[in-house]
Amino acid sequence: MADKLIIFDTTLRDGEQSPGASMTRDEKLRIARQLERLRVDVIEAGFAASSEGDFQAVKAIANAITESTVCSLSRANDRDISRAAEALANARSARIHTFIATSALHMEKKLRMTPDQVLEQAKQSVRFARNLVADVEFSPEDGYRSDVDFLCRVLEAVIKEGATTINVPDTVGYAVPELYGHFIKTLRERIPNSDKAIWSVHCHNDLGMAVANSLAGVQIGGARQVECTINGLGERAGNCSLEEVVMAVKTRKDYFGLTLGIETQHILAASRMVSQTTGFVVQPNKAVVGANAFAHASGIHQDGVLKARDTYEIMRAEDVGWSANKIVLGKLSGRNAFKQRLQELGVELESEAETNAAFTRFKELADRKSEIFDEDILALVSEESISHEGDVFSFVKLSQHSETGERPHASIVFTHDGKEVACDSDGNGPVDASLKAIEMHVQSGAEMVLYSVNAISGSTESQGEVTVRLQNNGRIVNGVGSDPDIVVASAKAYLSALNKLQSKSERVAAQG
Ligand code: KIV
Ligand code: ZN
Repeated sequence: MADKLIIFDTTLRDGEQSPGASMTRDEKLRIARQLERLRVDVIEAGFAASSEGDFQAVKAIANAITESTVCSLSRANDRDISRAAEALANARSARIHTFIATSALHMEKKLRMTPDQVLEQAKQSVRFARNLVADVEFSPEDGYRSDVDFLCRVLEAVIKEGATTINVPDTVGYAVPELYGHFIKTLRERIPNSDKAIWSVHCHNDLGMAVANSLAGVQIGGARQVECTINGLGERAGNCSLEEVVMAVKTRKDYFGLTLGIETQHILAASRMVSQTTGFVVQPNKAVVGANAFAHASGIHQDGVLKARDTYEIMRAEDVGWSANKIVLGKLSGRNAFKQRLQELGVELESEAETNAAFTRFKELADRKSEIFDEDILALVSEESISHEGDVFSFVKLSQHSETGERPHASIVFTHDGKEVACDSDGNGPVDASLKAIEMHVQSGAEMVLYSVNAISGSTESQGEVTVRLQNNGRIVNGVGSDPDIVVASAKAYLSALNKLQSKSERVAAQG
């Protein structure tokens, strides 16, 4: 029987470490539910000891998820490990993932520890974790740049202490596929008890090779777990992308010969949800989930695909959640059509109330926009999910005036702790005027470090999806808003970022 490749998703932990991608507990819970729908084997829900917020998020996810193993990261010390175990106490299936750096550079400069001290701490931590849960993963941070003899000593010792998964991170994205594959193979061959653990790969994308390196770790090295994130989200250039690894293994089963538990039709909804929640826009030419991934613009390609789809298509768009039924919805579409399209898109809203709210928003949108595309539906259900009860600010209405030769002016009404406030301001353009009007009241003092507009579905009739990144007191947050009017979308995005600035607490860095 073919081996199974375990998919370990770390969007909510390593992905969230990307500056600006931090998520609230409710946002994380919602994404975790989508990952469960996707049938991800392991969900790394966070780093419980890093902050009270992360502890609560891991706990909420552990309490809610039944079909995937829920994991918390922890540094290799008793306090972190106990905190992880506490957060995971109610999980149906729990894993503690503990790590310590093993490269000479990290041990000497960052940890200021000798190799023998690191070895002892790694052993002691795995022993401690194994007394709390049966499923313990160990990662030698910066493993790929570690001395191979020392790494073999550490990994043999932690397997002896009961580590059930050994993960070999390429923390800084330095590996190349062939070398990384052989590195994993060497470790497995040289460590006498290597068959007692599942081997895992964890690759960063600094040289754009995270997916290729992970697949080489699987194919050459014999790893049977891949650590990855939705949309490749993660610090710097990101992590290995889940959708790319999964579709590579599925599409090239002839080569990899592995099975997967993933229900791939939920991939697109997961991608949209992560993008909307974090404000990290998916590039149009991104494999599998980019807007152009299945679009055939050239006449020759279109002609070929119409005659026989496999002339130019190696995967079916509907297998990753793009709707096969291209009938667009509009203002005459009813509740059932809307619900059916949600189902086809792999979106399950949590309650009837949420479905009703999403349908109301759909109708409002359909009054303003004649054709509602799948992308619009995914944006509006995501927006439904990211406005929540704890919000301090909420958009009500806006009007603005701009005319050639005149300075634009905007008047905006929004709620602050439930009370309506009205403000107005001039600005360099209508967006600038609207955001200045909000700032006049809020006075956050935050610096805007990114502003971007993306047309959700191509044409000028499309909804604009705006991302605003704010920085304040060393914290960076992203806000997202969508609307057919990009000035309104901008105001919503700005208020959403302000809400996040209000709600986040300080946290300990995983790799600090
Ligand atoms: O990249 C890395 O080394 C990590 C570890 C904490 C597993 O994310
Ligand atoms: Zn990492």
